[in-house]
Amino acid sequence: MSKPKSILITGGAGFIGSNFIVYFLEKYKNIKVVNLDKLTYAGELSNLNELENNDNYTFVKGDICDTELINELFKTYNFSGVIHFAAESHVDNSIKNPDAFIKTNVNGTFNLIDVAKKHWMEAPFKYKDGCKNNRFHHISTDEVYGTLGETGLFTEDTPYAPNSPYSASKASSDFIVRSYFHTYGMNVVTTNCSNNYGPKQHDEKLIPTIIRKALSKEPIPIYGDGKNIRDWLYVEDHCKGIDLAFQNGLAGETYNVGGKNERDNLYIVHKICEILDGIKPRDCKGSYADLIAFVKDRPGHDFRYAIDASKLENELGWKASENFESGILKTINWYLNKYNS
Ligand SMILES: NC(=O)c1ccc[n+]([C@@H]2O[C@H](COP(=O)([O-])OP(=O)(O)OC[C@H]3O[C@@H](n4cnc5c(N)ncnc54)[C@H](O)[C@@H]3O)[C@@H](O)[C@H]2O)c1
Repeated sequence: MSKPKSILITGGAGFIGSNFIVYFLEKYKNIKVVNLDKLTYAGELSNLNELENNDNYTFVKGDICDTELINELFKTYNFSGVIHFAAESHVDNSIKNPDAFIKTNVNGTFNLIDVAKKHWMEAPFKYKDGCKNNRFHHISTDEVYGTLGETGLFTEDTPYAPNSPYSASKASSDFIVRSYFHTYGMNVVTTNCSNNYGPKQHDEKLIPTIIRKALSKEPIPIYGDGKNIRDWLYVEDHCKGIDLAFQNGLAGETYNVGGKNERDNLYIVHKICEILDGIKPRDCKGSYADLIAFVKDRPGHDFRYAIDASKLENELGWKASENFESGILKTINWYLNKYNS
């Protein structure tokens, strides 16, 4: 049997990264994963409980901005790939405290790809021996494209027009990664995904907030008039798309990932309340929907995001398994378990 490859995954204690590592190690028995995570407020080690006895998994607490540490890790593990999830990811926080977003998302991404370049390449367009197929995969968002009106879809050719400090920092990191392909010939790939939902998402995000507030019978806050539209993707479908792009995507290409599941926030909150009414009726016999409370809108709130994922579907054979209605049921059941235990 050949020696297992080692992959560096950053931000793997967060929502998508933890779902991805579990999916990836279950699928590939001959790949070792080192998960580098700073464990900010958004990182949660219990998201990785499934891997407690998995010899192919190693956790390292640390910051992607720490050049010395990243160098040491590359020396120790001789990584043949990086899948980069680590980021500050909450738009509301980026409005209050943009600094951390620039540090981690921009400087951190630069630091990581630059260390990878030094370890893998001896000159522009010249990989060191044995490093030719090493790949840097950058995880990004559809928010870099800005906002859509009532119609249209984001494609990989849509011009970037980020509107929040979060999306601006992600757009910057996408450009850094792009430049390492064009200037140094690095084998990079970027995926830009729509809004994810599913197990292990941080409590601060929309869907966990709706479920948590409903169960504790508190007002369920909805921004503005609730008409903002997102293209919702079940997290495991995102993981499948990342895996395909990491393994088979073309160097220098970007791939959009999205589920053709456009829903506005009003639909989402009513759907969740309707499901909860069915499986965990309120004592007072009212509906959870009675708790919905509209709050002042987020500044610069983008109206609509929607993804055209046909490149990933046609070129790499990706297909989402869940639609919003099937995925949200699984998600609610997971959170019922979490909040009841
Ligand atoms: N959640 C979504 O809907 C969504 C959609 C598209 C793209 N993305 C992108 O996917 C990636 C993961 O998103 P998520 O929702 O899982 O985020 P998350 O906030 O749940 O997790 C981020 C993780 O990164 C870690 N981290 C933060 N700063 C770090 C640093 N400086 N060094 C090392 N680790 C650090 C945190 O501790 C946390 O574990 C991000 O790059 C995000 O931009 C997210």
